[in-house]
Amino acid sequence: MRKLLNFNKNWIFENSEVCLPHNAIELPFNYFDEKTYQREFIYEKIIIPNSTWDNKEISVVFEAVMANTQVFLNNKKIVSHTDGYSPFIARLTDELKKGENILKVKIDGSENPSIPPFGGRIDYLTYAGIYRDVHLRITSPILIQNIKIETPNVLNEKKSVKVNVNLFNPKKITLSGLLIAKLKDTEGKILSTSKFKITRDEICFEIDKLENIKLWDIDNPVLYTLDIRVETPYGIDNLSERFGFRSAEFTKEGFFLNGNPLKIRGLNRHQSFPYVGYALGKSAQYKDAEILKYDLRVNLVRTSHYPQSKHFLNRCDEIGLLVFEEIAGWQHIGDKEWQNKSIENVQNMIERDWNHPSIILWGVRINESPDNHEFYLRTNQMAHRLDGTRQTGGVRKFIEGEFIEDVFTMNDFILGEEELNGNRGRIPLRSQRECTGLSYDVPYMVTEFNGHMFPTKSIDNELRQNEHVLRHLQVLNAAYGDSKNAGAIGWCAFDYNTHKDFGSGDRICYHGVMDMFREPKFASYVYSSQDHAKNGIVLEPVTVWARGERNIQGVLPLIILTNCDYVEFQFNDSEERFSIYPDFKNFSNLPHPPIIVDTEHFPGNVFGTWGTDWPNVTISGFINRKLAISRRFIADPVPTNLEIIPDLEEVSIGADVRVIIRALDQVGNKMRYLNETITVNLSGPSIIFGPNSIPLRAGSAGFWIRSLGIGKIKISIISNLFAQKEVSIIVK
Ligand code: GAL
Repeated sequence: MRKLLNFNKNWIFENSEVCLPHNAIELPFNYFDEKTYQREFIYEKIIIPNSTWDNKEISVVFEAVMANTQVFLNNKKIVSHTDGYSPFIARLTDELKKGENILKVKIDGSENPSIPPFGGRIDYLTYAGIYRDVHLRITSPILIQNIKIETPNVLNEKKSVKVNVNLFNPKKITLSGLLIAKLKDTEGKILSTSKFKITRDEICFEIDKLENIKLWDIDNPVLYTLDIRVETPYGIDNLSERFGFRSAEFTKEGFFLNGNPLKIRGLNRHQSFPYVGYALGKSAQYKDAEILKYDLRVNLVRTSHYPQSKHFLNRCDEIGLLVFEEIAGWQHIGDKEWQNKSIENVQNMIERDWNHPSIILWGVRINESPDNHEFYLRTNQMAHRLDGTRQTGGVRKFIEGEFIEDVFTMNDFILGEEELNGNRGRIPLRSQRECTGLSYDVPYMVTEFNGHMFPTKSIDNELRQNEHVLRHLQVLNAAYGDSKNAGAIGWCAFDYNTHKDFGSGDRICYHGVMDMFREPKFASYVYSSQDHAKNGIVLEPVTVWARGERNIQGVLPLIILTNCDYVEFQFNDSEERFSIYPDFKNFSNLPHPPIIVDTEHFPGNVFGTWGTDWPNVTISGFINRKLAISRRFIADPVPTNLEIIPDLEEVSIGADVRVIIRALDQVGNKMRYLNETITVNLSGPSIIFGPNSIPLRAGSAGFWIRSLGIGKIKISIISNLFAQKEVSIIVK
């Protein structure tokens, strides 16, 4: 049977022992020189084979290494792999000697122009390191290379599964034996068992007439498992793949999931984190998917601009978050050799990820690159040859680009690019025909908007936050209002570190609706408030509630992002209530238009004037006339409580856990302008990524820790303003 051993521990890197995932150079939060990691690095690990490895296939599986990797065993080169986002295998069989062997991994973090995405300028960083998991794989000499599972005619009553199993037979042994396929439901109950004789290295079969199969859906993401067992005279190999039954189709009339229309409301995600770059493992990847699904409450994420961790994708499968996955690149297309590598990247991406039900579209263009007929014919052909079940998209930003893909995927930054709009005033999105240049409709989706058109920091003032919110609302409203548009994916979910040529001069693009620690900015509630209240009530007034924060004074007009039917205002302890309803006039297409509060909603001057008392307020949200939620804002907030929230309180070894600290006032609101420094004291088997003395930014701070051994991790937070706070994480 196959053994896949965790190989993340005990690597030697620059004279110290490190564990993976690993970032070669820890960067400061901002204002750094990204050239520091653009050089060679070496990782080494000792391997001592034991007798159970005899007559087996032994390989090291690298989930991803950035970049241009060469792997040596006892100084003999075993494999090289240039792409920093795809997995590869170093086959050690026949090369291992008895006793100590030295595995050496040489990487080159420089932006080598012959490798995608490099050669031009890119608006993100490609942090050097062995930044994803590594496994040692021990199998029989004939093993399963990959399994492709398709579910044709999924909307029929009786369902079927089409399977391709490819074997890897490096020693070219004459093939014989049996392949046994077991289909299991979510509970592990076997639904069918099939057996096939092995005569070739590709075995294709179909399991049909399956009854009572549940579809995979965003609200009910039911997963099935196919266990494949290969029995040959030389041993047994086994591999399991999860998949789902679902159909996903972009049409001229929008997007359909399982035959039902679904408007896509998405965000783009970079896979980077402060200090540690790409190098956070499973639990942090899981958490990001959960933040997108449960906090931001979008229904799709675009993995801009490269294939992301399989942990992230696994979690998207489990929780029902759709994915648009794309190949690595940014605006630049290199020479023929570079293009060949990019076509290989299409293959690597699809062969790694074709069984994820969450993935509904392959991005096979270099993000925002110019047209290139021959190259993009080839990327599309490759995608279609490998996967006949999914459509392709090709993200562009200029209009009238050549439409080779199945879905016209357009970054529409018109809201902000006034010079392009020909004095038409403020327009949130262009019509698809204006963007495609075609005289007929095609499957169409907006894949980016806002971003660099209106960068907004968490710490920015209330007026700017309002405008940020408004822009996201207006684009979503336009997308919801156009039945021919499959939907819109905002730029972007999280702020990210970037090259000097982008961002705010401090190596950060503040384009997220959340900051780099995934703390929400006001605009994040634009997305969550569009979701049904049964999944969680949202009521977020876009204000710090102060007399003198805005120009002139006061908080009006005040946008309230909510999925309640209406709100009531109550000032101080007055009996008087003011009911205010959503703005159905300006945001008629949104599932939940915002409530925009202005002077017309209040008789007289309930707020008083400059020099008079500023009131407390309670804003209550009602659903079906019942009180659903209340938010209080206090006129004289003082620092009252320091909240520490770890994402997980019980973990296993090697878990990367985010911890969020928030400074709160008497009624639990974040104190956005409190710039206190806090010190993190960590005890127990763990490390912190980044410094342990950090400022609150917009009232919060965040960091990630990694559990290194069994025991109790104690995190205490020390500051001048608040009493010491502590929290524990148990490592089991
Ligand atoms: C787009 C690009 C993104 C990001 C964004 C900022 O043009 O595709 O990667 O740079 O602009 O708004």
